[in-house]
Amino acid sequence: MLSRRLAIAVATGAVAALSLGTAAQAAPARHAGHEATLRTLAERPDLLIGTAVDTSALAADAPYRADVASEFSSVTAENVMKWEVVEPARGTYDWSQADQLVSFAQKHGQEVRGHTLLWHNQLPAWLTSGVADGSIDTGELRAILHRHITDEVRHFKGEIYQWDVVNEVFDEDGSYRDSLWLQKLGPSYIADAFKWAHAADPKAKLFMNDYNVEGVNAKSTAYYDLAKKLRAQGVPVQGLGIQGHLDIQYGFPGDVGDNLARFDALGLQTAFTEIDVRMTLPADATKLARQAQDYRRLLDACVAVKGCKSFTVWGFSDKYSWVPGTFTGEGAANIMDENYVRKPAYTALADGLRAAARRTGRH
Ligand code: XIL
Repeated sequence: MLSRRLAIAVATGAVAALSLGTAAQAAPARHAGHEATLRTLAERPDLLIGTAVDTSALAADAPYRADVASEFSSVTAENVMKWEVVEPARGTYDWSQADQLVSFAQKHGQEVRGHTLLWHNQLPAWLTSGVADGSIDTGELRAILHRHITDEVRHFKGEIYQWDVVNEVFDEDGSYRDSLWLQKLGPSYIADAFKWAHAADPKAKLFMNDYNVEGVNAKSTAYYDLAKKLRAQGVPVQGLGIQGHLDIQYGFPGDVGDNLARFDALGLQTAFTEIDVRMTLPADATKLARQAQDYRRLLDACVAVKGCKSFTVWGFSDKYSWVPGTFTGEGAANIMDENYVRKPAYTALADGLRAAARRTGRH
């Protein structure tokens, strides 16, 4: 992996200057006069600023591509590392779109977050129908999961700095989600998934990932308890991924700082993995200001603890967002509008990164 400083040098086009031992001056033409981008501002306080990437947009939309490259130091595949995409027919892998994203990232000095090895959504149809009609029994399902995790992690070995090993395995009350994994394999599937992923790439940091775990609540406490238990058993769990899908109508979650601090105290990393802050449409200045404040509060919570080293937004432009298709009447959840105009939320993050860089003592 590229060092953080070199990655930033690549992003700013400053490699040639650095190799001659001169000061890094260059910036992408698109940002002439505005050299600072989120990724450069995040160099201090040593934070990776990430985005989910829609690989169709990456291929087709040049302004989108330019912003992915210049603004971010980490990328997450929005969909193309999910099981339904990588193994559409049983035993037939298709890594093509994910590989393209990984090479884009490497070319632009970016790290890659892996998302996700085990989920209850976006599973291949051959798998869900096989379980439903009984043609895949429990023993076989466990073997299929083992092989999937092993093959996917091995395929990207050395290229992924954090993997979301299990995604959304708890309900809001802190009980295990009643997924096909729990129904067929029982709760031990979680420890197994981490052990298998670790065996396939011992250097990747292995995360659990979920929504509504920003603050201290029944669900995040279940994560805390599980992480503590698994670590005591020697299971290689290294981080809690906090999705950060917020909605301004519900208010900002309480105790985010306390929540991150307790995972820090366990020796675990934390990461904001899928941030967006949606609102009921139409957007207006008041709502956008509130949204900006929420983005900023998440960023401030992240930079306040040692273990939070990655802050990822779930897409950056309202042009490509899962929100309107999922939450009726809601949208405008990202930090840029449909035309890549920076919204107050973008400015709030940039200001937050500048403020964090001025403070000392985080790392
Ligand atoms: C979403 C994608 O953004 C959509 O394009 C897709 O249709 C469904 O999945 N939590 C997660 C992400 O962990 O993988 C989801 O991504 C959003 C919610």
